[in-house]
Parts: sequence; C-alpha cells; structure tokens
Amino acid sequence: MKVSVPKTLSSTSGSCLLIPCLFNISKEREHILDSSPEVTWRQGSLWSLYDKPDFISVRRQKEPVIEVVGDLRKKNCTSVMRNLSSQHSDRYFFRIQSKNFTMTDTKAVRINVSDSLAEPNVTVPVLREGEKVNMTCTAPAPCPSHPPNIKWDPALGGDISQRTQMNADGTQSVSAILNFVPSFHHHELKVNCVSIHPLHREDKPLLSHKTVILSVEYPPKKTWISLTGLVWLGNNMTLTCQSNANPPAVHRWFMKRAGVEEELGVSHVLSFTAAHENTGEYICEAQNPYGAMNSTNLQITVPGISFTAFLSILAVLLLLVFALLILMIYRR
Ligand SMILES: *[C@@H]1O[C@H](CO)[C@@H](O)[C@H](O)[C@H]1NC(C)=O
Ligand SMILES: *[C@@H]1O[C@H](CO)[C@@H](O)[C@H](O)[C@H]1NC(C)=O
Ligand SMILES: *[C@@H]1O[C@H](CO)[C@@H](O)[C@H](O)[C@H]1NC(C)=O
Ligand SMILES: *[C@@H]1O[C@H](CO)[C@@H](O)[C@H](O)[C@H]1NC(C)=O
Ligand SMILES: *[C@@H]1O[C@H](CO)[C@@H](O)[C@H](O)[C@H]1NC(C)=O
Ligand SMILES: *[C@@H]1O[C@H](CO)[C@@H](O)[C@H](O)[C@H]1NC(C)=O
Ligand SMILES: *[C@@H]1O[C@H](CO)[C@@H](O)[C@H](O)[C@H]1NC(C)=O
Ligand SMILES: *[C@@H]1O[C@H](CO)[C@@H](O)[C@H](O)[C@H]1NC(C)=O
Ligand SMILES: *[C@@H]1O[C@H](CO)[C@@H](O)[C@H](O)[C@H]1NC(C)=O
Repeated sequence: MKVSVPKTLSSTSGSCLLIPCLFNISKEREHILDSSPEVTWRQGSLWSLYDKPDFISVRRQKEPVIEVVGDLRKKNCTSVMRNLSSQHSDRYFFRIQSKNFTMTDTKAVRINVSDSLAEPNVTVPVLREGEKVNMTCTAPAPCPSHPPNIKWDPALGGDISQRTQMNADGTQSVSAILNFVPSFHHHELKVNCVSIHPLHREDKPLLSHKTVILSVEYPPKKTWISLTGLVWLGNNMTLTCQSNANPPAVHRWFMKRAGVEEELGVSHVLSFTAAHENTGEYICEAQNPYGAMNSTNLQITVPGISFTAFLSILAVLLLLVFALLILMIYRR
C-alpha cells in the first residue's frame, strides 16, 4: 500500500486539521474498499498501547477525534482531526483494516498543534506613487471549515478581496489582497496584516500579525538650499542641497551671474571661499528616476571687504566718534 500525505502539518489548539490523504492498493485487494473497512490513524507515542485489552479507555482520553471525509472507494483517505489540543502533537500512521486484511503505512505524517497562530506571510511589490498595485497577505487555513479572517490595517484607502487557495500538498491558505494606489504619504508607514482565528477561546479570539514598513518611490517633492557661513569676502561658505525624494535624488548646481547661466556640476554640497565672482543666484536641482525639481533661487552677494576688514573700519569709526565726543566735552 502506498499512502501520500504531507510530511508535516500544523494547526492550532481548539481548531481542527484537514489531513489531505490519497492511497493506492493493489488490484487484487481493491474489493475490500467496498466492504467498508475500518480506517484509523495510529498515534506514534501510543504505539505500545494499541492491541492491549484496555486500549479503548486509554484512547478515549488521549486520542484526538479523527474522521475520514474522503471517498475510500476513490482511494481518498482525506481526514479531519477535531477538538485539537497541543498534546495531540505527534506522528500519525494511516491504517486500513478489514476482516482478513490489515495494512499500516510505514511513513507517518507529523502533526504540530500549537497554542499560537502561525504568522501570516506578506508580499509587497515595488510601490510607485500613483501606480495601482496588489499587496497580498496569506495565512494557512489548516481547518478549512473555520478559516482565519485576514485584515489589512490601515487599508490605505484600497479595496480588499479574500481568496482561498489550494497548495500543492493539498492544504489550504487564505489570502487578503489589498488593491490600492500608493502615494508619497504612505512612505515609511507601518501597515499590519492581522490573522484572526474566530473560534478559539470564548473570551478572546486568537490573533497573529505581521507588520511591514512601506517604501514608496516618488519624484522629488521639495528641494531647498541651506547656507552655512557668513557671506563675507574670504569666508568659507557651504551651500547644501536638500530634497525629499525616494530613491534619494542626485543634486546638480546652477548659478546665474549677470544674466549668464552656468552649470556648476553634480554634488550634494558646494563649498568655496567667498570671492567677488561668487556673487550670483544659486539654484539646485534634485533628480531621481521619477522626475526633477528645482529649489527657489538663492541670491548671494559677496561684499567688497572681508569681515575682519569691516571690523577694523568699524573700530576706527567708533574710535573717531569717541574722540569727537571727548573733544566736545572738553570744549564746554
Ligand atoms: C497504483 O497502483 C497501481 C497498481 O499497483 C498502479 O498501476 C498505479 O500506477 C498506482 N498509482 C499510483 C498513483 O501510485
Ligand atoms: C479527497 O476528498 C476531499 C474531501 O472530500 C476532497 O476535498 C478532495 O478534493 C479529494 N481529493 C481528490 C484528489 O479527489
Ligand atoms: C473536546 O475536548 C475537551 C477537553 O479536551 C472535552 O471536554 C470535550 O468533550 C471535547 N469535545 C469533543 C466534541 O470531543
Ligand atoms: C478474505 O476472506 C474472504 C472469505 O473468507 C475471501 O473470500 C477473500 O478472498 C479474502 N480476501 C483476501 C484479500 O484475502
Ligand atoms: C510547531 O509550530 C510552532 C508554531 O508554528 C513552531 O514554533 C514549532 O517550531 C513547530 N514545531 C515543529 C516540530 O515543527
Ligand atoms: C490585482 O488583483 C486583482 C484581483 O485579484 C487583479 O484583477 C489585478 O489585475 C491585480 N493587479 C495587479 C497590478 O497585479
Ligand atoms: C510563507 O513564506 C515562506 C517563505 O517564502 C514559506 O516557506 C511559507 O510556507 C509561507 N507560508 C504561508 C502560510 O504561505
Ligand atoms: C577655508 O577652507 C580652506 C580649504 O578647505 C582651509 O584651508 C581654510 O583654513 C579655511 N578657512 C577658515 C577660516 O575656516
Ligand atoms: C532647473 O534650473 C536649471 C537652470 O535654470 C534648468 O536648466 C533646469 O532645466 C531646471 N530644472 C527643472 C526641473 O526645472
């Protein structure tokens, strides 16, 4: 006999578990399927207790309730385990038994019953401002009669559709597809996908969630120049170009002097020691693959003298004023 079941299956205590199962049996033995054979799943840890006279009472206490829901005549041994608890985590062997024929599968299905809910899986495509996309959140539905409820929070102004899908091994999953239009306001926003199990404990449902931080690509939204250093002849000055863009923008500088425009090159900062020829209008352009944006013009006028020269002149002037004042007082 050949039985095909998944190697491992997981579910949550208080829920149920569908075991996808198909088997094969030789042609000569096929007739036993018509005589409603007894089909059971033997639990690995109770192996030594089976076939003992008091087994029935032991079984009542320990074994989970397992029901075959597949059509045996079609060699479908799909079964449902109900009323699960974490003590039911074990290896289970499929067994078919009729009057003069008994077969037990040698390969087991490992069943893992946990008290928590599996974390949902989130797939996020590349998000570009203004381009409608689907974000998908998927959680396993080991008990298809009571699938988890999946929600997106916040829903980002989009539409959510639920879908149930069959996996290659016969198990099922539930997805919530969020169809929305990303905006730059969604950039770096935390979004949760929440999986809610409806029938766990009476007091509170069982929850599990996955948080993703969105990265939305958008053209530069704001470009500005910040200036450090005082504008005096001979002073060191730094102009920094800043912008809000994703991916980060490349910055290019322009300068207008006496009606003539000049490109100063690509750099984040512009540093120079102020001289007469630095007088002019500065513009910085931010560019990324989605677009470009200019800053407002920054007028820089470098005075004809340095700050120290200015201070010296100021000091001389103050001295002169002071001397004049003293002179006036003495004249009285
Ligand atoms: C089932 O068994 C029959 C006879 O042994 C064989 O011809 C057939 O290919 C088997 N099918 C599968 C799915 O193993
Ligand atoms: C086996 O039976 C289950 C339960 O009735 C059903 O959902 C599944 O589709 C069947 N599998 C095949 C391969 O027929
Ligand atoms: C489910 O399990 C609980 C405790 O394990 C038990 O009290 C209850 O009778 C079981 N229900 C069914 C339908 O087997
Ligand atoms: C089982 O026993 C019955 C009657 O004793 C017999 O007709 C049948 O062929 C046997 N089946 C197998 C698979 O040995
Ligand atoms: C059983 O499931 C829990 C929760 O999903 C997981 O943490 C644990 O590793 C699993 N154990 C096995 C043996 O697969
Ligand atoms: C999003 O999903 C819907 C429905 O599942 C589908 O019609 C649409 O084509 C998908 N859009 C994209 C961009 O994948
Ligand atoms: C989640 O993704 C991982 C890795 O891609 C995969 O192994 C796992 O089966 C997925 N779980 C579900 C519920 O789809
Ligand atoms: C200005 O910058 C130059 C070159 O980086 C440096 O040698 C000089 O010391 C700086 N002067 C001042 C006043 O910081
Ligand atoms: C920014 O300004 C420069 C210089 O005036 C100009 O060449 C460039 O096209 C402008 N870029 C944008 C995006 O307006």
